[in-house]
Amino acid sequence: MKAVVAGASGGIGQPLSLLLKACPLVDHLSLYDVVNTPGVTADLSHISSVAKIEGFLPADDGMKKAFTGADMVVIPAGIPRKPGMTRDDLFKINAGIVKGLVEGIAEHCPEAYILVISNPVNSTVPIAAEVLTNAGKFNPKKLFGVTTLDVVRAETFVQAITGAKDPADTKIPVIGGHSGETIVPLFSQAKPEVKIPEDKLDELTKRVQFGGDEVVKAKDGAGSATLSMAYAGFRFAERVMQAAKGKSGIVEPTFVYLPGIEGGDAIAKETGCKYFSVPVELGKEGAVKANNPLGMANEYEKKLLQACYEGLKGNIEKGVEFVKNPP
Ligand code: NAD
Ligand code: LMR
Repeated sequence: MKAVVAGASGGIGQPLSLLLKACPLVDHLSLYDVVNTPGVTADLSHISSVAKIEGFLPADDGMKKAFTGADMVVIPAGIPRKPGMTRDDLFKINAGIVKGLVEGIAEHCPEAYILVISNPVNSTVPIAAEVLTNAGKFNPKKLFGVTTLDVVRAETFVQAITGAKDPADTKIPVIGGHSGETIVPLFSQAKPEVKIPEDKLDELTKRVQFGGDEVVKAKDGAGSATLSMAYAGFRFAERVMQAAKGKSGIVEPTFVYLPGIEGGDAIAKETGCKYFSVPVELGKEGAVKANNPLGMANEYEKKLLQACYEGLKGNIEKGVEFVKNPP
């Protein structure tokens, strides 16, 4: 398993690279960034784990060297939010960054699983899909928007109510997109079942939807979630790698192109959104089946879903347009 981190020197990139370097599933870790990869690579190279490590800058065909032969590319490249910004405000800069990196993937490692962390995920994943389509290399089963941080937050925040010893033991499908009202936690489908007092549900739901703002505010201009995102990004990457190596029964919410995945068409029809985060069964080929949790949503969640569809459609269209009709 050759794993690449694109944006490896950043706030997410460094701890994510650390976790991947320490992971026995990774044989070869390749770090790519426009700055500082020599230092990050030298530092991580002293860790006595199995993964061989290399780092590259853009000069001297760095992207080609970093990406060639990759089985998985994780992309946390791009600017983070400051207080007062929405994720959509990042589009202007990050859209171009993601486009350039995915063009490199299409050229040098088109078979790789692609895990997009860069915001706004609701738009950067459609950008990636359009770039791959133009290159004749789009495999919807291998393109994932990483929404795991929303799942991790839901598990953490609900623990105050459930009192569970290990928060991660409570499985909560968080679906939709990855920004504000497009994030829809389905607490009614938590396993094991959780009973949330009615007066607490709104607050809990909003906290999951706007958890990112909490961190942006606390960091006060120094960026957004990095460490919890590295944890979440690694958790998702590890599941993808486990499935790639043949482990069965892995289901994770992730933002995918629905028409390209078994079970996805019905969800796309129901939501009006071609891209949506739903619990997806992972296998060797990547996303092998999209599970449809919509029918089991309760009335409260159905209202949340209506708001989600409205916001998400525009975000998706913006990403598609960016590639189809470049500004
Ligand atoms: P950061 O500024 O600390 O790091 C970004 C890194 O990307 C920098 O090292 C920068 O040099 C690098 N970079 C910029 N252009 C590049 C290019 N063309 N090729 C390779 N590398 C490039 O930012 P961060 O805090 O690590 O956040 C990164 C992104 O992740 C942001 O867009 C942020 O909003 C997003 N994010 C997403 C989630 C999620 O849940 N999906 C969670 C947190 C943050
Ligand atoms: C998050 O959810 O923490 C990230 O998307 C970063 C952000 O801008 O909030």
